[in-house]
Amino acid sequence: MKFPLSLLFIFSLLFIPALEAAVYKGQKAYIKKCRKCHGGGQKVAASKRMRQWKKLLNKKNKGIKLANLHLDNKKAKKSWKYFNSKKYRKRARHLRDFMVEYARDSGNVPACN
Ligand code: HEC
Repeated sequence: MKFPLSLLFIFSLLFIPALEAAVYKGQKAYIKKCRKCHGGGQKVAASKRMRQWKKLLNKKNKGIKLANLHLDNKKAKKSWKYFNSKKYRKRARHLRDFMVEYARDSGNVPACN
């Protein structure tokens, strides 16, 4: 039977877990929008447990808890525009995947970067 290698390659691409992509997107959003105030993302992620992140960045309400936490705090004023934006609500679930992936009790050891 002839099975082209290129086909095999395309197949393997299709099976890269979607979750990996979401974690990556969340990390990218973090670096762009959160790092200037909070520093390294994996360190921040490891400051909470998975359950706490799931609450703060709830899927159904699009991360409103984390947004309100900032919107209620004058010290976070520079983040208000972002937390009020559609962009944030769209990315909240990616951020959540990233935070949960590296949460304190996730068992994932942060890479050294
Ligand atoms: C303009 C600066 C700023 C930006 C941007 C910002 N934050 Fe914050 N964040 C704060 C401040 C100020 C607080 C209040 C806590 C404090 O006083 O240290 C806070 C609090 C938090 C807390 C709660 C900490 C705790 O101990 O409960 C989390 C979690 C958090 N931010 C995550 C994020 C994430 C994720 C993003 C990106 C989407 C983000 N922040 C963007 C300034 C910022």
